[in-house]
Amino acid sequence: MLTPEENKLVTEIGPETAMGDLFRRFWVPAFLARELAEPDGTPARTRLLGEHIVGFRDTSGRLGILEAACPHRGVDLSYGFNEENGLRCPRCGWKFDVEGNIVDMPLEPDEEATQMMKEIKAVSFRANEWGGVIWVYMGPKEESAEMPQFEWGDLPAGHRFITKYVQECNYLQGLEGGIDSSRMSLLFEMLFGDPPSVESTADHLVQGLSDDQTAPRPVQTMAIKTTDYGLLVGATTEHGQDESAWQLNQWLMPFYTTPKPEGDGLLGCLAWVPVDDRNTMVFAITYHPERPLTEAEVSQRRAGHGFHPTLEEGTYKRARNKENDYLIERKTSGANPLASISNEFELALVLEESMGAIVDRSREQLDENDIAVMAARKMLMKAAIELREGTEPAAAHMGAIYNVRAAQTTLGKGETLEDVG
Ligand code: FES
Repeated sequence: MLTPEENKLVTEIGPETAMGDLFRRFWVPAFLARELAEPDGTPARTRLLGEHIVGFRDTSGRLGILEAACPHRGVDLSYGFNEENGLRCPRCGWKFDVEGNIVDMPLEPDEEATQMMKEIKAVSFRANEWGGVIWVYMGPKEESAEMPQFEWGDLPAGHRFITKYVQECNYLQGLEGGIDSSRMSLLFEMLFGDPPSVESTADHLVQGLSDDQTAPRPVQTMAIKTTDYGLLVGATTEHGQDESAWQLNQWLMPFYTTPKPEGDGLLGCLAWVPVDDRNTMVFAITYHPERPLTEAEVSQRRAGHGFHPTLEEGTYKRARNKENDYLIERKTSGANPLASISNEFELALVLEESMGAIVDRSREQLDENDIAVMAARKMLMKAAIELREGTEPAAAHMGAIYNVRAAQTTLGKGETLEDVG
């Protein structure tokens, strides 16, 4: 549970907010590299941390990221002409280079243009292309950050599959779902899984059957370990036995999570990037560290498998979205309407949106398995407050700590996550 003031602190990410300032100290995924692949190609626009930006690749192949509003009259530069090493505003023709300098003012007298070109600049941001993503640094010009060295970033392009899509709620709801993904996984298996014993467990929950009428219910135990990058999160349903299998995932500052591995050694990473306070752009990466993805693995994900939901054609909007009530089938009796969503990750996205754009955390009642969510919130707020007091976030300057992956491990009785290397 948070106070209303804490909830505001941890969820508001616009310019001049404490959390917004913290996020601006990190490199942030802004575009897929394929959106800006061609020199002189169509500019791409997005909203990032509450600010409208436009990206373009100039004739020489350099990346430019500018505030979308033209400094002259505020026209959206994403409608501009990307030509001859600059982006030309479609209204009065001012042309900007990748650093925001005005390089041409066709309708102004020469003398006046020369003077104005010295005095006026478009707001520009540093850009970096790496791992199939265009990253942007929106912090103070005099500061810098290291790129987070995720292992998928250095792999050949064929080893990874990347998508992005909108989640219609504050970043923290998605992020907390990612941190808490093992619980969602377990419940999904219980409620919608196929084996008969699981069905009877669902009956237990839904119809209040007694223990002897159903399979034993799994009891989940969660544990955390504070790290340089954020949190190592462990979950098991075998706690207390001589040996127990633990699923390990990470939350990495400020908004990354690692989902559980899939199939034949496929790993993943999710970035819950704030669009504004009420919307999130999820960057989803599936990768294999040792081999290219197979055609089948790629086509499954193109068809909406795992954490790559199907999108509306030509958009980053999920095909199942709030507007169409997630295409769920509501029947007057019988199965839970959510049973028509067969993808557990997609179901989690829906449930997080169902909380509203910004959930009121002063009304929640957390249980002991919310330990990781509570810790992550505290660490985010602490880092934001410390930044206000003059301490830079250490993780932003330690790119190498991001080279971690989700895993499974076995712990003996009495061992804890502190014993995991
Ligand atoms: S509004 Fe952009 S040049 Fe006039």
